Amino acid sequence: MNFPLFPPEASQVAHDSDVLLWGLLILSAITMAVVFVPMIYFLFKYRRGKKADRTPVHFPETMIEITWTIIPTVIFTGLFAWGANLYWTIERPPPDAMEITVVGKQWMWKIEHPEGNREIDELHVPLGRNIKLLLASQDVIHSFFLPAFRIKQDVVPGRYSTLWFKANKLGTFHLFCSEYCGTHHSAMVGSIIVMPPDAYQKWLMQGAPGPSMAQEGERLFRSYGCSGCHVNSTSIHAPPLEGLYGRPVPLQTGQFVTADERYLRDSILLPAKDIVAGYTNDMPSFQGHLSEDDLLKLIEYLKSISDTTPQKEGAEAK
Ligand code: CUA
Repeated sequence: MNFPLFPPEASQVAHDSDVLLWGLLILSAITMAVVFVPMIYFLFKYRRGKKADRTPVHFPETMIEITWTIIPTVIFTGLFAWGANLYWTIERPPPDAMEITVVGKQWMWKIEHPEGNREIDELHVPLGRNIKLLLASQDVIHSFFLPAFRIKQDVVPGRYSTLWFKANKLGTFHLFCSEYCGTHHSAMVGSIIVMPPDAYQKWLMQGAPGPSMAQEGERLFRSYGCSGCHVNSTSIHAPPLEGLYGRPVPLQTGQFVTADERYLRDSILLPAKDIVAGYTNDMPSFQGHLSEDDLLKLIEYLKSISDTTPQKEGAEAK
C-alpha cells in the first residue's frame, strides 16, 4: 500500500527541514517520557491504601534545581539555534539566484520568466540552480506552497514577498495555494516541473517568448509617460532612474532607503511617501492604473538599466 507520510525531498532544504522535524519530535517524546513515565509509575506505587515505604527522602534540593534548569536550557537553546540556522538559510536568497516572478490572483498563479516566457499554474525550473521567486498578489492573500521543497510564503496584496530554493530532484511536484482565498481556493493548485538545465534552456526557446520582461517594461515606461519626466534630456526635474536599483537613496527627511523592489513599487504607487532629497512631490500616483504584472515589468526594466549605466555622483542633488 502506498501511504506516504512525507512528500518527496526535492530541494536543498527539504532534507535538513525533515531532520529538524524528527529531532524536535524525538526530543519532545523524550521530555514527555521523563515526566509521564515516573508520574504514572508513582500513581500506582503510592496509591492510597497501598502498602509502600513512605518515609520522606531528603535530596540536595539546590543541586536538583540547578541540574534540571541547566540541562534543559542547554538542550532547548541548542534546538533554537538549530532551527534558527535553517530559518536563516531559507529566508535569505543567495545573490546569484535567477529571478522568476509570480502573481497570485483568484484563482491562479501567473508566472513569468525574465526571458518573457509566461505560464499559468505551472512553474518550470532548472535542476541545481538557485532560484528566487518575487511574489505579488493581485487581490487577496494567497500562500505559495511547495511541499516537496518544504517552503511556503504568504503572498499579500500591496507588497512583494520573496522565496528561494534550489531543486535537487527531477520531476513534477505539487504547487498549492495554502491560504483560504475564496470560492475556488481548493482549485488554485498547480505543479512545479524540475528539468535538466539544458532541457530548461530548450523549453525557454520553444515557448517562443515575445519581448523579455524588461523590454515589456520599457514599452510601459514610455506608454505610461514615465519617460516624459525621468529622462535626463527633459526639462522637468525628476530623479534619474539609471543605476537606481539596489542603491541607497537619500530622502527629504534625511534618511536613506535602499532602492529595492518594494521601494520602486511604493514610488510608483505612492509617490508622496518617500520624496527624494532635492525634489518636490510632482509625480501622480499610478495606483489603480497598473496591474501587478505591469508593475513587475516596469521594475524589471528599472533593474535592467541599473547595471548598465551607473548613477553619477551627486546627480540627485544638482
Ligand atoms: Cu489562493 Cu487560496
